[in-house]
Amino acid sequence: MTTLIINIKELLQVRKTAIAKVSGSEMAILPTIKNAFLIIKDNLIADFGSMDNLPKINADKTIDVTGKIILPSWCDSHTHIVYAGNREQEFVDRINGLTYEEIANRGGGILNSAKKLNESTEEEIYDQSKARLKEVMRLGTGAVEIKSGYGLTVDGELKMLRVIQRLAHNYPITIKATFLGAHAFPLEYKGNHQGYIDLIINEMLPEIAKNKLADFIDAFCETGYFTVDETKQIMEAGIRFGLKPKIHVNQFNSIGGIQAGIKYNALSVDHLEVMTTADINALKSTETMPVALPSCSYFLSIPYTPAREIIAAGLPLALATDYNPGSTPSGNMNFVVATACIKMKMTPEEAINAATINGAYAMGISETHGSITIGKKANLIITKPIPSYYQLPYAFGSNLIDAVLIEGEIFE
Ligand code: NIG
Ligand code: FE
Repeated sequence: MTTLIINIKELLQVRKTAIAKVSGSEMAILPTIKNAFLIIKDNLIADFGSMDNLPKINADKTIDVTGKIILPSWCDSHTHIVYAGNREQEFVDRINGLTYEEIANRGGGILNSAKKLNESTEEEIYDQSKARLKEVMRLGTGAVEIKSGYGLTVDGELKMLRVIQRLAHNYPITIKATFLGAHAFPLEYKGNHQGYIDLIINEMLPEIAKNKLADFIDAFCETGYFTVDETKQIMEAGIRFGLKPKIHVNQFNSIGGIQAGIKYNALSVDHLEVMTTADINALKSTETMPVALPSCSYFLSIPYTPAREIIAAGLPLALATDYNPGSTPSGNMNFVVATACIKMKMTPEEAINAATINGAYAMGISETHGSITIGKKANLIITKPIPSYYQLPYAFGSNLIDAVLIEGEIFE
């Protein structure tokens, strides 16, 4: 099956040869071709170029997108979209003055979601999660990482990971699974942290590895959650079972999580709302991708990741949603890109690089996703007719997506 797309007003993020990520001042450059064509063959990008060089081919289907822009679909490298119910009551409690921390200390927060998850059947969780997945695909996400972490029991964590596996099997979107058993300490382990860590290492991880249920290992390294030493234990164990670390750090406090992540060669360190100069310097000359989650900052009214400082230090930066019931009940990457521009002062070019190629890197899939490159997946966003790609962050509340292609097919 060959699809030919013609008269593309501008084709964004074109990379003749595949690159892993873009860093520092390179992030300001978004290569594009104006008045372009693109050919899709067997779900992959087969060719692209200027309409002046349009080859003669027999396409099964031709799509004329006059006035519309095409870019690679968003690569959302950090989500928790498998969960049960919602936490809208906590949202109202925060409006009325409680903090995220105070709510968690009263047994709300992650433990509230864990209770709901353990009380729900696998089928109920699957049905709720698939609706969220379809929603984000229609919003232009073509690859997504999904974490466990609302089970906090052997059964609950395995149940979540099986739901992720089933979603990956049933939908064309690329899904990477992360085991986040170390998301919070269950109440019964409040006075026995090592007991819960042992449960993760001795009971959860072997089962997960045996059934190939996860690609990555995560921990919430934060005051009141997992200490740096506890996080190190989790990362070490994950690595022994073949899982690469990808961790939550510096959301509320800078306690050394970044340095620990780097020590274990984490694929990414995520959140980074609170960053010291030492934290930024530690990331230089590493393979670890910093990931910012601006919708979380927006929803919790906490600082935004200092993107300008990170980029000025020559580092790369990725953007992701953090879609979850407590701190970010939104999986809209378009909003993330707009908020990064508006609140973090990233340029549209930097934000699009961060949400495509660098997001792909933060999931270990930049060889197949995140740019318009021959041989990569034909996962594409076709915009509505718009004057330029600046509209994407500028018209932040509008839905500017006309169609989404995943593996070369329009996703309805
Ligand atoms: O990434 N920070 C830790 N975990 C999630 C939020 C968890 C929750 O509140 O349910 C996050 O923001
Ligand atoms: Fe998160």
